[in-house]
Amino acid sequence: MLIGKTGQLGSSILAEQTTHQIYAPGRAELDIESKDSCERAIAEFRPDVVINTAAFHNVPQCEVEPLRAFAVNCQSVRDLALACNKSNTLFVTFSTDYVFGGEKKTPYREDERTKPLQMYGISRLAGELAATAISPRHAVVIRTCGLYGLSGAISKGGNFVDKRIADAQTSSVIEMGCDQIVSPTYTGNLAQAVLKLIEHPQLVPGIYHLVNEGECNWFEFTQAIYEMMKISVKVNPIDRGGMSGEMRRPLYSVLANTKARELGIILPHWRNALQLYLNKKYGAAAGK
Ligand SMILES: NC(=O)c1ccc[n+]([C@@H]2O[C@H](COP(=O)([O-])OP(=O)(O)OC[C@H]3O[C@@H](n4cnc5c(N)ncnc54)[C@H](OP(=O)(O)O)[C@@H]3O)[C@@H](O)[C@H]2O)c1
Repeated sequence: MLIGKTGQLGSSILAEQTTHQIYAPGRAELDIESKDSCERAIAEFRPDVVINTAAFHNVPQCEVEPLRAFAVNCQSVRDLALACNKSNTLFVTFSTDYVFGGEKKTPYREDERTKPLQMYGISRLAGELAATAISPRHAVVIRTCGLYGLSGAISKGGNFVDKRIADAQTSSVIEMGCDQIVSPTYTGNLAQAVLKLIEHPQLVPGIYHLVNEGECNWFEFTQAIYEMMKISVKVNPIDRGGMSGEMRRPLYSVLANTKARELGIILPHWRNALQLYLNKKYGAAAGK
């Protein structure tokens, strides 16, 4: 059962060739904010696996609506974990690089100390704890970062890559942050990795990191988008010291996929992933 089929990752998972039968209810059939709805859907369909890609992940909005952030990112995850426990179902749910504080300069492993800096990260960490505490034998939490996918991110008004290409229609000079170092990840690669992970015979429940290899800041990522698209826009790096208004973001949140790598699951480098995405979405304009 796949929750979030209209989202970037959900639609990428649905687009994968798989021998599995995937039941993907829309929000009208399964609203994760309703405990009854979660229990009913899982009891009725008795899936082998529940993959929850739904979240409240508009980071600034989580500061404004912290109770809603906890309701969706923690309480609903707990309700799904409880329902999966009852039916002995594997529960796969997602989290974020924003559970880390960004004080390091080398990639964070799955077992490193978390230290979220804002309500979004706090609510996601609470969700991780809810899933793994309530369902230690069934819950797989996958942390990922900076997603972009063919369906765009409706909840964020489009994904980062598409927004930068749209910016170039109206501006010849743009400013882009160079202060945050991240692992931008293409949902096509992530979807394949998620399916490989849940099919893996040696999968053990717990926390996993799945991101494209390598690291960059958003300024470097933006430059790569324009280079690959052969768009001439001047990009000026801007250092906000990780601040968005009064809200803090981690300066370094690159994830090391150490546990998935041990199972032979390795995602491509972010540059190859970006080129693949641009080819698929923009075809000839992306140099192919
Ligand atoms: N995007 C990123 O940069 C990023 C970074 C790190 C981690 N992640 C995590 O990765 C996962 C997938 O992200 P994404 O970018 O694919 O998300 P997305 O594009 O925003 O899609 C979210 C999906 O969840 C559904 N949804 C939201 N609230 C729901 C509810 N109450 N009940 C049922 N369905 C609901 C949405 O349905 P509607 O169409 O009905 O709204 C949509 O299908 C999330 O957990 C996200 O936080 C994302």
